[in-house]
Amino acid sequence: MSSTDSPWWRSAVIYQVYIRSFADGDGDGIGDIAGIRARLPYLADLGVDALWINPWYPSPMADGGYDVSDYREVEPLFGSLNDAADLVEDAHAHGLRVILDLVPNHTSDRHAWFQAALAGGPGSAERARYLFRDGRGPDGADPPNDWRSVFGGRAWTRVMEPGGIPGQWYLHLFAPEQPDLDWTSPEVRADVEQTLRFWFDRAVDGFRIDVAHALMKAPGLPDLRTDLDWPEAARRPDPHPHWDRDEVHDIFRSWRAVADSYDPPRVFVAEAWVPKPERLAAYVRPDELHTAFNFDYLRAPWLAEPLRRTIDATLAEHATVGAPATWVLSNHDVARHVSRYARPQTDKPVHSLQALLGLPADLELGRRRARAATLLMLALPGGAYVYQGEELGLEEVEDLPEEMLQDPTWSRSDHTDRGRDGCRVPLPWSGDARPFGFGPGADAWLPQPDSWRTRTAQAQHDDPDSSLNLYRAALRLRRELPALGDGALTWVAAAKDVLHLRREPGFACLVNFSQEPAPLPTDGRVLLTSAPLVGAALPPDAAAWLASPG
Ligand code: NOJ
Repeated sequence: MSSTDSPWWRSAVIYQVYIRSFADGDGDGIGDIAGIRARLPYLADLGVDALWINPWYPSPMADGGYDVSDYREVEPLFGSLNDAADLVEDAHAHGLRVILDLVPNHTSDRHAWFQAALAGGPGSAERARYLFRDGRGPDGADPPNDWRSVFGGRAWTRVMEPGGIPGQWYLHLFAPEQPDLDWTSPEVRADVEQTLRFWFDRAVDGFRIDVAHALMKAPGLPDLRTDLDWPEAARRPDPHPHWDRDEVHDIFRSWRAVADSYDPPRVFVAEAWVPKPERLAAYVRPDELHTAFNFDYLRAPWLAEPLRRTIDATLAEHATVGAPATWVLSNHDVARHVSRYARPQTDKPVHSLQALLGLPADLELGRRRARAATLLMLALPGGAYVYQGEELGLEEVEDLPEEMLQDPTWSRSDHTDRGRDGCRVPLPWSGDARPFGFGPGADAWLPQPDSWRTRTAQAQHDDPDSSLNLYRAALRLRRELPALGDGALTWVAAAKDVLHLRREPGFACLVNFSQEPAPLPTDGRVLLTSAPLVGAALPPDAAAWLASPG
């Protein structure tokens, strides 16, 4: 299918802006809306279609903004509602759509609703918006069930009642500062729809849905009876009492009706870590969310067979519901893929830094594989996500000083899991010294490695072989070639450890995972490669885009 007669989101390349770390406009060391506005020309030039901006709402930042205290305002550190409106207008003028981040599973504990729930006491209407329960044991001193927080420790915190006595417990699947809402409450449902309309009325093009698979909990909140932690615990028992329950889909159907009532229709992308592609496909049925992040692809090792299996399973399941696939290599929750691919690759999927530490790393190899991975991802049917900084070939920062770590995973794991700060280090834009043009101030909220002086956007701008220019060239070709974007692929028989796919009309992508050079087909014209060719052969861990004559 040509991308011209299909809606934009079916083939969009969406750039993820982790706002705290993208660009700082006011010099306080923290990224902000002014910083994004100043860099819109860079993003337009890169060739992406849209931005997804991580939460920019008022937040005590217990979890980097995923603890929202007011969904219809802007965090003062980032700017104001007026700045937000100006950004959306400017982005549109640059041909870039804007997607925000909706956090519907939990609020901040500073949200007015949670404060009212604490004051309201047991049995109050204010507590019914959250999941407050009495504890177990004679004096209620044990939590209501055995659920675990994703960040470590139990998923329940006990509150002091208004009279100063220990009282009920509330559920938080993430940090204690992120109390879970009760999605059986009609008031909760109505309020979130109001938030959707608030931003849609301000010309925002869509929302990424945070932990879409978490919203509904099993009636009675039954025990898990497992010692497994997330993500393993997400698979058992089945059905799971708080992940990926069938009841969540009813919520998305009502949101879709809201999105479709706008002209142009607004769109959603689901963050849903679910165990099987068929479970993911359910989120993107025609009357639900439009697209979903493909985390199976993100977690797959840099090996031909597992990648091909993941691609085939994804396409087959998405085809059953008529939705386009998405492809994603990195985001603000996982170790950057340069560093994942720098490690020995095994069949076991990995995404966290913790799983990598201790394994030998070859960053030069990781970067070569990452370049090839970019060409493969952008050749596949559907849409793709680019996490800020991956276009610069940035690696995970694995040795941040412990006293600077902010991810709640670090403290909740008793300082055994360094968490996600290493992929959130502020971007290096220019210059030879920290903070590398991140902002006009002397510092950035996390220190960048000195080695990033060669990886700044400025340093890569004029280097034809840079990672930045590979992304630019690939994104430009992706727009020009009718074969790319939405549609289908066919595999061409290839040597072991080589993937060769075709898209019509006249496009092929070849990826060499083996350690031997792979011959290029003689009937193709080379459009783009991720590494210099050796004669007519593709070197190890490299990819090429080919066009067939005629
Ligand atoms: C997923 C977000 O991507 C992550 O950063 C956050 O910690 C959790 N959801 C909780 O909101």
